[in-house]
Amino acid sequence: MSGTDFWSRVGDGLPSRLLVSGGAGFIGSAFVRLLLERDPGLRVTVLDKLTYAGNLANLDPVRAAPGYRFVRGDICDRELVGSLATEVDCIVNFAAESHVDRSILDPDAFIRTDVEGTHRLLEAARRAGHGRFLQVSTDEVYGDVPEPERSREGDPLRPRSPYSASKAAAELLCFAYHATYGLPVLVTRGSNTYGPYQYPEKIVPLFVTQALQGLPLPLYGDGRAVRDYLYVDDHARGVALVLARGRAGEAYNLGRGDRPVEGRAVAEAVLRLTGADPALLQPVQDRPGHDRRYALDSSRSRRLGWEPEVDFATGMERTVAWYRERRDWWEPIKSGEFQDFYRRNYHPVAGAPAEP
Ligand code: NAD
Ligand code: DAU
Repeated sequence: MSGTDFWSRVGDGLPSRLLVSGGAGFIGSAFVRLLLERDPGLRVTVLDKLTYAGNLANLDPVRAAPGYRFVRGDICDRELVGSLATEVDCIVNFAAESHVDRSILDPDAFIRTDVEGTHRLLEAARRAGHGRFLQVSTDEVYGDVPEPERSREGDPLRPRSPYSASKAAAELLCFAYHATYGLPVLVTRGSNTYGPYQYPEKIVPLFVTQALQGLPLPLYGDGRAVRDYLYVDDHARGVALVLARGRAGEAYNLGRGDRPVEGRAVAEAVLRLTGADPALLQPVQDRPGHDRRYALDSSRSRRLGWEPEVDFATGMERTVAWYRERRDWWEPIKSGEFQDFYRRNYHPVAGAPAEP
């Protein structure tokens, strides 16, 4: 799908004043860049708490766009959210605690932001009489999916980690607001996303930055858990298309679905593309409750015209090239809060990697 095809599918379907919560994070900032690079006059207010994962530098490329505004704040702040909602036509909610391993260590923030925060936003949208509310959710709400099944939107939700349970709870609130109050909600369920500007805790940016630093790549268990990796710009385009053309009250899967990739294959790709020493690959104790496989049937989104453009090999090349060039972006991150998380998450196990 060329850029022209994509925008012709979106057409005039986008609201003209948007509140993008979590827009300073990885996928949210890609969505904001996508919209404002296309139309710098579109009125996009980013609301973000700037947790460890939020980074204003992610929005540098569109900072000067006339329609762009940034507000630092919490989606759980009823007053702030209520007041911002009156100034826009819709909310697109990317804000979340998003890392499974952190949810295992400390679930509290996940319940607060992902569940209560989403509720605050829904309530504000209802009171403001918005014409659309888009909740960015995840394929993890389906839980572990046995071969050869693929999850479809009507399948039961069987989340198995505190993170995925908090995202499933948020979705249920969204659908309840649709059924009860007629709020036109849309939900996207994206698969594992990677690309530039991703905080180096998820497997791809962690392994790429560790390899570039000559540090261990900690592979969980047998390294055979399977994910469907989606390039970040494809994810952002999917959210934009669903926002513009989706049917209220529906969920939309967003996954490539063409090539399941095991954790060890991610590690091998990283080692090859960085030229790092294969001995850096270090098996560590498995994640508790580790889902073995996610697999989506995304035909509903495809029917809307969503066509992911970047395959895994190309996406990994681009990603490694970006992290090679942008040490200024990630090196300061890896020397701060990241160190504490790394020690807590990886140290208690036999065969754990040396400190980063
Ligand atoms: P991220 O962790 O990079 O960004 C989350 C953003 O939300 C950060 O900017 C953070 O500061 C902000 N935030 C957190 N708590 C907040 C609060 N209480 N109030 C306001 N802002 C707050 O996450 P991401 O990877 O960009 O994911 C974005 C969304 O997409 C999440 O909802 C996530 O569940 C979902 N998702 C992620 C993936 C993935 O692979 N990364 C895949 C599918 C779905
Ligand atoms: O599927 C969508 C989800 O993908 C999103 O909703 C989440 O926000 C996002 O974090 C991601 O969750 P995962 O747990 O699947 O991603 P993560 O990168 O943490 O792990 C991917 C696979 O790699 C998984 O099988 C665990 C493995 N892994 C991960 C890390 C961080 C390792 O082997 N070693 C690691 O150090």
